[in-house]
Amino acid sequence: MSHPDAEKWNGRYHQDGFHWLQNKPRSLLQMWLPRLPHNGLAFDAASGVGVNGLVLAQHGLRVVALDISEVGLRLARQLFTQEGLEVDTAVYDLARPWFPAHSFDVIINFRFLERATFPAYRRALKPGGWLIFETFVKTDAAVEYPDHFLEAGELHEAFADFVVHFSGREEVVRNGRVYKTTDQLVAQKLL
Ligand SMILES: C[S@@+](CC[C@H](N)C(=O)[O-])C[C@H]1O[C@@H](n2cnc3c(N)ncnc32)[C@H](O)[C@@H]1O
Repeated sequence: MSHPDAEKWNGRYHQDGFHWLQNKPRSLLQMWLPRLPHNGLAFDAASGVGVNGLVLAQHGLRVVALDISEVGLRLARQLFTQEGLEVDTAVYDLARPWFPAHSFDVIINFRFLERATFPAYRRALKPGGWLIFETFVKTDAAVEYPDHFLEAGELHEAFADFVVHFSGREEVVRNGRVYKTTDQLVAQKLL
């Protein structure tokens, strides 16, 4: 039995994988990269084709990439190999997350929302570990899949006891028009 998200995203990456591989790493990640540790273990959640995880590996971290799409992960492995770097990948359903406590130095979560990950990320980060999270937020406009969108302030609230280095909002522009809006958080679990 296949997973509906896997079918959807495998189809997208089959068709548009090349396009996804051309994407630059998210600017929030590029901005905060210099503050991240140069060694340890990073987790790229819902990694897709791995362009964000790749910069963490180039920075010196070992990267674990999890995603529901095996096609996306195959492209991620090819991308890392081309760059002479290693990545551990696994097909994983982040709707039912469980990770051992205090495992990761860095977790990145871009353009994906599954609220069950909030407590799982809190547990999985080492004390002092970094969370970089950016995903779509509800604005005035009606959205097709409301569960896939943060409520205003929700992300900040979920990690309010972390040291919050940055909490912001960014409009995503496509073809000259605001297409969606993201909320962004950069925070560190307390030591
Ligand atoms: C918009 S893409 C974001 C990819 C990447 N993080 C980025 O910023 O480019 C959403 C990703 O979430 C993955 N995904 C969707 N449902 C998932 C689930 N239940 N568990 C794990 N990954 C999932 C998709 O396969 C896809 O790679």
